[in-house]
Amino acid sequence: MNILLQMPGHAVEPWHAAFVSALPEAAISVWPEGRAIPDYAIVWKPPAELFTRFRPAKAIFNLGAGVDSLLAVPTLPADVPVIRLEDAGMAEQMCEYVTYAVLRAYREMDSYATQQRAGRWQQRERLAKREFGVGLLGFGVLAHAVAAALAPFDFPLRGWSRQRRVAPGIQTFAGAEELPAFLAHSRVLVCLLPSTPDTRGLLGRATLERLPRGAHVINTSRGDIVVDEALLALLESGHLAGAVLDVFNTEPLPPDHPFWHHPRIVVTPHVSAATLVADSVAQVAAKIRRFEQGQPVTGVVDRARGY
Ligand code: NAP
Ligand code: GLV
Repeated sequence: MNILLQMPGHAVEPWHAAFVSALPEAAISVWPEGRAIPDYAIVWKPPAELFTRFRPAKAIFNLGAGVDSLLAVPTLPADVPVIRLEDAGMAEQMCEYVTYAVLRAYREMDSYATQQRAGRWQQRERLAKREFGVGLLGFGVLAHAVAAALAPFDFPLRGWSRQRRVAPGIQTFAGAEELPAFLAHSRVLVCLLPSTPDTRGLLGRATLERLPRGAHVINTSRGDIVVDEALLALLESGHLAGAVLDVFNTEPLPPDHPFWHHPRIVVTPHVSAATLVADSVAQVAAKIRRFEQGQPVTGVVDRARGY
């Protein structure tokens, strides 16, 4: 079995070593070396040239949960299955990040930080938890894990997806027609949607204005789902209280971008859930084995939906 492995930059060596150890029967080449027709390509943000030189015969594995950058590669063969990572150690990290951001908002840590800087001792009235709904925009693999992590805190939880999902203790909404009702009680909006033609720019002014006054936005999926100007304008007007942003329309976030120094925005550099070598290699290797045995694998991307 021939495998072509590609990672951007110089980060490929630990991946190569882990795949060699997980699939000792495979001949694993590292881009830009390789055979013209590898059985599998394992890639992250590949250059267009990769698929003009190498045409995977069986499947293309994406070393991340989001496939937006891979689907945007113009040379990506249309008839080869694309398989993404599912959780692979990312759900636990996403739970840590989102739980921190939700509790930070609910316990008004930013207000206490401002008070501290002013040397002011002032106990704020506790916020009513039943009015502090947490809305999970996108209710897939990562959002389900986040919902389970938040459950012990007893926030009213909501999930929004394309198809209706059923989850105990969570009010679920589906499709564009139910989006306004979902937003109306989401005091914290957690964006865990993939970036697709349907979701890009979804969080513009008209959508964000439907959140209750004083809402917080947490975006850990893709920056292009948010319209930056709309977010800034609604923070300015006081409709939104704050935002925790891990992903951006342009990454790295440009040095002169207003998000950097905004007093009510927290910026992190796309770190909410890193791709972990050991977990990811174990998942991809297990799927390759299933593929080789003619068994079905999960995580196959629906090209028409874009995720
Ligand atoms: P997933 O399992 O595919 O879940 C996606 C969810 O979004 C599903 O519930 C899906 O609905 C919903 N959705 C998609 N398009 C929709 C639409 N037009 N309207 C309503 N709902 C829609 O994905 P995941 O594994 O949870 O990952 C989510 C995203 O997180 C990834 O795509 C990636 O961009 C991002 N991510 C970021 C990081 C980071 O470090 N910042 C790390 C990992 C992942 P259905 O349930 O009906 O299909
Ligand atoms: C990271 O952003 C991923 O999609 O896995």
